Amino acid sequence: MLKIDHLSASYKTIDGNIHVVKDVNFEIYDNEVFGIAGESGCGKSTLLKTLYDIVEFPLEIDKGKVILSGTKNGKPFSYESGQIRKSWWNNISYVPQAAQSVLNPIVRLKDQFLDSIPDEDKKNETPEQTIKRVAKYLEELGLSPDVLDAFPFQLSGGMRQRAIIALATFMSPNVVLADEPTTALDVVVQRGILMMLMRLQQQFKNTLVIVSHDMGVHYQITNRMGIMYSGSFVELGKTEDIFEDPIHPYTKMLIGALPRVGDKSQKVGIPGRPPALKNPPPGCRFAPRCPMATDKCRQDPAPEFREIKPGRYAACHYLEPEVN
Ligand SMILES: Nc1ncnc2c1ncn2[C@@H]1O[C@H](COP(=O)(O)OP(=O)(O)OP(=O)(O)O)[C@@H](O)[C@H]1O
Ligand code: SF4
Ligand SMILES: [Mg+2]
Repeated sequence: MLKIDHLSASYKTIDGNIHVVKDVNFEIYDNEVFGIAGESGCGKSTLLKTLYDIVEFPLEIDKGKVILSGTKNGKPFSYESGQIRKSWWNNISYVPQAAQSVLNPIVRLKDQFLDSIPDEDKKNETPEQTIKRVAKYLEELGLSPDVLDAFPFQLSGGMRQRAIIALATFMSPNVVLADEPTTALDVVVQRGILMMLMRLQQQFKNTLVIVSHDMGVHYQITNRMGIMYSGSFVELGKTEDIFEDPIHPYTKMLIGALPRVGDKSQKVGIPGRPPALKNPPPGCRFAPRCPMATDKCRQDPAPEFREIKPGRYAACHYLEPEVN
């Protein structure tokens, strides 16, 4: 399980701190596909970087904790101790946004696999033996082991993305973080990548965290999801519940703007733009775009992210926890 405990992080710039992750507080369970959605610039990639502990200047964690439990040695790991970083590949792995650019175009894939697999996992094997294991794994995933002899520039975008996912899952980590894994690929290839991710998750029974601005991706493969707006989660719950009965005004607008089969009405996006994170509005950050906003919303920051009904969390002045 990944526990994210009141986490805040900001980019330190010469013009001041940009608070990109603001008091994010939630849990991701074992053996689930968890989705993180939200408009461009709301902080999805930054949040994922904090979960993977790639917190490098100018990004800093200001407060809060990330704890990874259910690790292979049975002990919980926290980012503060550097343990999450030490367990990269083995317990937690990451497919970054625009992952294709992380492959060196002029180094054969097999050499990139050999460089990425930690020495302790090579168990005194020769490089040929390690590559044999990788080739077998690729075959299990339905990929031709011939790609190992190829240079990344010789492969299609979809094949490169498949190779990166194979690399990230080779050591069967408990948690796989994937940032926009289908963006910039054509629709047919996107479907293939989603199916590959789903098959792997079902095979390893691990946790897949998938970041996407595309609500269709979440609808297709996530079990639960969180909606981010301007650095914070505004709603979290089971994906089917969020699609059927969104409760936060932002989620309602997001879902209402989605095209539906058989519905010929003109869909309009959410009017306006998210606030600049450098200088957000003083009250609820969604107030300038929220049709339900009141003076209270414009003055008082949104309340803490809280459980409104079992398993369903939101942060809005007008959503009170239901009393049983
Ligand atoms: N190195 C940096 N220095 C300063 N600000 C940054 C830096 N990297 C990102 N930001 C800012 O942080 C905010 C959130 O960025 P982030 O990449 O996390 O958003 P995102 O939700 O992943 O967006 P997208 O959907 O476009 O990938 C943006 O406003 C961005 O301008
Ligand atoms: S707190 Fe107010 S402005 Fe913010 S989402 Fe709720 S109703 Fe809208
Ligand atoms: Mg991003």
